[in-house]
Amino acid sequence: MISTNVNLKEHNTFGISVNSSRFATFTSVDDLTQVLAKREDSKLLILGGGSNILFTKDFDGLVLKNEIKGFEIIHQDNDIVQIKVGAGEVWHDFVMKCIDLRFAGIENLSLIPGSVGASPMQNIGAYGVEIKDVFVELEAYHINSGKTKIFSKEECQFGYRESVFKREFKDQYIITSVTYELNMSSRVNSSYGAIQHELESNGIKHPTIKDISNAVIKIRSSKLPNPKEIGNAGSFFKNPIVGKDVLSKLQNTFEKVPNYPAPEGKVKLAAGWLIEQAGWKGKTVGNHGVHKNQALVLVNYSDALGDEILTLSTQIINDVTEKFGVTLEREVNII
Ligand code: FAD
Ligand code: EPU
Repeated sequence: MISTNVNLKEHNTFGISVNSSRFATFTSVDDLTQVLAKREDSKLLILGGGSNILFTKDFDGLVLKNEIKGFEIIHQDNDIVQIKVGAGEVWHDFVMKCIDLRFAGIENLSLIPGSVGASPMQNIGAYGVEIKDVFVELEAYHINSGKTKIFSKEECQFGYRESVFKREFKDQYIITSVTYELNMSSRVNSSYGAIQHELESNGIKHPTIKDISNAVIKIRSSKLPNPKEIGNAGSFFKNPIVGKDVLSKLQNTFEKVPNYPAPEGKVKLAAGWLIEQAGWKGKTVGNHGVHKNQALVLVNYSDALGDEILTLSTQIINDVTEKFGVTLEREVNII
């Protein structure tokens, strides 16, 4: 059923109050086909958990909320397990289920909000793991032709917070399921400094995947605001990837600039550090601002407009460019 004039405040973690002229949910590909047959608007927005979106105005079109469920083990042996998951499943619930079943590989991605279907969109990542590390393939519905296509890992062209669905195929496909390959072994990835620190402080020498998940949840809860309490969409900006020449120039003035190796001999800078050094961390502008514990996160304290948050982000980009000569790129999808 398509509803009209629906408020989207409960459908985006920034808690921005905008209306969509039409709104529908779908629970299967058949359901989706039927809804699309009835659509009058040309403009479409596919919504998962709304945790990586900033609405800046009412949406004059059809918002389609993905509620396709499903958890199907399609292959399992002594070493690996392949699971096909409905795109409308809640990502964190899926992670918790895998941990209960002792399927290893995504415990570092605990507590990331949103849906399974959005996980390949920006190749979600945290604490040393990205979705591309466990990804096998996805099924997607081509909006114009109504045909289903399988995308392999190569075809998705994953990069840091990037995929083909954010570039060439933007707004062309609806992801309906994702297949992941996890490990049956108890091998864990505790390489991220903060995880090691958390495990050490709890005296854990041989961590299980549950220990890693608990550590990640604790670290995240101490830094990132809970969207149920303070509106936000996680990191608003990407960490910039720059050439070594840019890093050397910065180090002339800022000796301790944090940096990490990136592909093709480049380096990743910490946008949170740049924003903090520029004096924005914890800054409040009326009903919105920059989070006090994590400068990468912009927050809506009550009833901010999406446009106000967008303006703040532009001010931060301009200031960081002026002070460091590095231009930040937004991670959040601006609608
Ligand atoms: P939405 O916000 O609903 O949609 C995001 C984009 O994907 C939109 O363009 C939408 O149209 C499109 N889309 C959604 N579903 C589909 C589909 N099925 N088919 C086609 N297009 C679709 N991200 C990280 O990578 N790492 C983190 O550590 C992290 N931490 C976060 C912490 C907090 C507190 C918050 C609020 C967010 C965080 N995020 C993080 C960002 C966010 O959780 C992820 O990007 C998540 O994958 C978004 O899922 P969603 O279902 O909410 O997507
Ligand atoms: N930093 C500061 N000040 C800040 C924030 C960070 O100086 O206010 C410095 C830290 O001291 C550290 C470095 O920046 O040296 C990295 O900080 P952190 O480990 O908190 O990670 P991040 O780079 O800020 C990224 C992701 C997060 C992900 C974490 C953990 C991006 C854009 N963000 O944040 O993802 O959870 O690493 O892996 O890559 C998201 O995408 O929404 C998100 C939350």
